[in-house]
Amino acid sequence: MSAVVIVGAQWGDEGKGKVVDVLTEKADVVARFQGGHNAGHTVVINEQKFILHLIPSGILHKNKLCIIGNGVVIEPAALIDEMKGLKQRGVDVRSNLLISKNAHLIMPYHIAMDNARERVRGAGKIGTTGRGIGPTYVDKMARTGIRVIDLYRPEVFREKIETNLGEINYLLKNRFRTKGFRAAEIFAQYRAYARKLARYVADTDIIVNEMIEKKKKILFEGAQGTLLDVDHGTYPFVTSSSSVAGGACTGLGVGPTRISRVLGVVKAYTTRVGGGPFPTEMTGDIGEQFRQKGGEFGATTGRPRRCGWLDFVGLRHAMRVNGLTGIAITKLDILDALPTIRVCVAYRRGKTLYRDFPKETSLLHTSVPVYEEMEGWNESTVGIKRFEKLPKNAQKYIRRIEETLGVKVDMISTGQRRNELIVLRNQF
Ligand code: IMP
Repeated sequence: MSAVVIVGAQWGDEGKGKVVDVLTEKADVVARFQGGHNAGHTVVINEQKFILHLIPSGILHKNKLCIIGNGVVIEPAALIDEMKGLKQRGVDVRSNLLISKNAHLIMPYHIAMDNARERVRGAGKIGTTGRGIGPTYVDKMARTGIRVIDLYRPEVFREKIETNLGEINYLLKNRFRTKGFRAAEIFAQYRAYARKLARYVADTDIIVNEMIEKKKKILFEGAQGTLLDVDHGTYPFVTSSSSVAGGACTGLGVGPTRISRVLGVVKAYTTRVGGGPFPTEMTGDIGEQFRQKGGEFGATTGRPRRCGWLDFVGLRHAMRVNGLTGIAITKLDILDALPTIRVCVAYRRGKTLYRDFPKETSLLHTSVPVYEEMEGWNESTVGIKRFEKLPKNAQKYIRRIEETLGVKVDMISTGQRRNELIVLRNQF
């Protein structure tokens, strides 16, 4: 049995795209289990840069089945655009992509609600990507959501839009003082999407389980990261889905007994986009240095990412709630020129030390990080392919992460390209 879940161990943008891309070479199936086009995976192949939002990056390899699972929320126009862009660059989307019948659809009114709610939140805004993700999951849980399968039952589809608009238009007009939507327009627009997507729609839960039975190698690809998880993240500054490893089970219809490994992707430092607490955030020059060197700008929104030191308190939490079997360290080279490197070992408020990630968001806002300093290595690690070739202090940094988290480092990424990588343990 070889089903490996890949999750982000921080606030997303850990570099999962490259890790998944590399592992895909040995995989037969790559399946996405949550989130939507709020995510953005950047993959560089032969100097060509691909940014994917919804479609698993496995699509860039030949003959890998790529699945968008039931836990994902789909904005059909965004998906069709992404498919078109890939096709134009010669990628075979037709033969290799499947979409779950049960995935929920992002409707235009979800996007309007996302932005309207952010507007009224004022200073407490979450800093969402404005893609309608939250309101779509709200409808899913409220049992008023519209699923991919509904696209193919026109009468039911029309009725659902009309019913939902009854309430949403009221809110948009009276509460948020903005324009409402017309059911007929949405209906016509989505019927056109339905035609374009029809050939890809499938019972993906059955297919994934069949693949597991056949002993195929499967990657379950998470978006965002543990600290953005709706249950285990820095609530309410989170996304609205289960981005931890358990989300792979519900988001694809696979039992936990079928998962063989969970690989957590850890960036060698920390970043966060949007609002919310970030104890190890570096403001000023040093933060800016990281942002520029690491190219820390959102793949989806282009927003500058907030940058900070590695945070063991958050990572131990990620280790626990995901049950990680190994980690992949990314962007080690961004630390190359630093004389000293800090790691956060606890948070402090007043006289109290917190070694476990606090549940109280207010505490995260008001506590200060307790750092330990490590010597930097001051030489380039770009493109190094063997652990022994890393500068001694870089090796120490990696070992320190392993010891603190009690889990082995399976992989270290030393640059953007596919082959700039150290592999210490195979996943399949
Ligand atoms: P939403 O997912 O658009 O509702 O945004 C909720 C929070 O998650 C915001 O802070 C976003 O910046 C953050 N977020 C959503 N998707 C990503 C991602 O792919 N990487 C990093 N942050 C994300």
